[in-house]
Amino acid sequence: MTKFISIKEAMKKKEGKVAVRGWIYRERGSNKLKFIVLRDSSDIIQCVLEREKFEKQWADIDKLKVESSVEIEGTIKEDKRAPTGFEISAEKITIIQISEEFPIQKDLNEELLGDRRHLWLRSRKMTSILKIRSTVVGAIHEFFRSRGYVEFDPPIFQPTQSEGGSTIFEVKYFDSKVYLSQSWQLYAESAVFALEKIYDMSPTFRAEKSKTSRHLSEFWMAEMEAAWMKLDEVTEVAKDEIRFIIQEVLKKNKEELEILGRDIKLLEHYAKAKYPTIKYDEAVKLLNEKYKMNFAWGEDLRTIEEEKIANHFKVPVVVTHYPTQIMGFYKPASPENPKEALCFDMLAPEGYCEIVGGSERSLDVKDMEKRLKADNENPKNYSWYFDLRKYGSVPHSGYGVGVERVVSWICGLDSIKDAIAFPRTMTRVTP
Ligand code: 4AD
Ligand code: MG
Repeated sequence: MTKFISIKEAMKKKEGKVAVRGWIYRERGSNKLKFIVLRDSSDIIQCVLEREKFEKQWADIDKLKVESSVEIEGTIKEDKRAPTGFEISAEKITIIQISEEFPIQKDLNEELLGDRRHLWLRSRKMTSILKIRSTVVGAIHEFFRSRGYVEFDPPIFQPTQSEGGSTIFEVKYFDSKVYLSQSWQLYAESAVFALEKIYDMSPTFRAEKSKTSRHLSEFWMAEMEAAWMKLDEVTEVAKDEIRFIIQEVLKKNKEELEILGRDIKLLEHYAKAKYPTIKYDEAVKLLNEKYKMNFAWGEDLRTIEEEKIANHFKVPVVVTHYPTQIMGFYKPASPENPKEALCFDMLAPEGYCEIVGGSERSLDVKDMEKRLKADNENPKNYSWYFDLRKYGSVPHSGYGVGVERVVSWICGLDSIKDAIAFPRTMTRVTP
């Protein structure tokens, strides 16, 4: 049995006999020579096939097009002219499948690339992003587990909204209807009275009716919730988490960042920098005084304002104490100034804006009932949630990180759609 090794391992070996297998990334040839750039999940490498060694197979070799699958055995050596600095002189080729004309060529528009997403995943761009995404997900698990958090999974079918009725997906559930999870939060709040420190990453659904480069209708949210924790502490956990994720990507994915053309120095800066915390009040002052923006206190920050604030600090910035009136029912008013809520967002620079949202949780059932009613919700549907405030309630806080928002920022992507393999948006649910 031939022992196949990855292209990366073959290049590490530098010389001698190797056997590799994969897909044809590029090919060109004459009637004497065929050059194949072979791709596997680890890298690409140039292979050269001389007709005189393959006279019997030449007719088939001549037919090999991009994405054909092959196994190649031969001798590897350094070659400065080859795309990755090495070349394999082939002695044996086994053709697994001769590909049809691959339907992705240069200059496909975004719509057509979207239609061919199942094939586009093979591109070096998507492969690099997916590897970085895997590191991000692994880093989140490691961050929380190493700090003693327990992984806790919420239900995805939920009987109520948690983040506002306007973005909720309704689904038929036998003879009734339920909703797809907008957040794990209400369930996490039950679990913290048992487990104290928990985290999770799960699919999250929002019927976002806007077409932006930052919104998906199905995305992964990484959330945490902790008993006894207050706003000042939870914001520091969020900063540590984001820095840790970047450190892990820098440790494991330098090559992928280079393929994507990301500024690695800048990421190294984000991985170590101190992230400031400012109050919404100060953000409003900054926008109006320094940037002459005429922004009214009480409005939610939109993309243009978030962008200004994060770019001003040039690192992620935590903004706290948004106006209570525009916040979700569970975000408590500050006892010092009820107009301000004990909540926060983290805004990433370079136009990536909100990557984290969180808060302390209200302990005031009367106030939550009032705010739900104002939102046309029936507080009765939340009675189980209010139970949590009756039996040994303690202060607690949590937040959610948009996994694709973070991947998009770390990779420097133009659109969040490339931060997930099969994006779902208002205008796309296929393939
Ligand atoms: O700010 P959000 O809506 O917060 C919550 O849902 C809280 N219940 C979380 C918590 O406290 N446990 O969402 C959290 C994060 C946002 O900061 C953003 O990064 C991401 O989730 N997010 C989206 N990402 C992609 N597409 C969308 N449509 C998103 N909506 C939110
Ligand atoms: Mg938010």
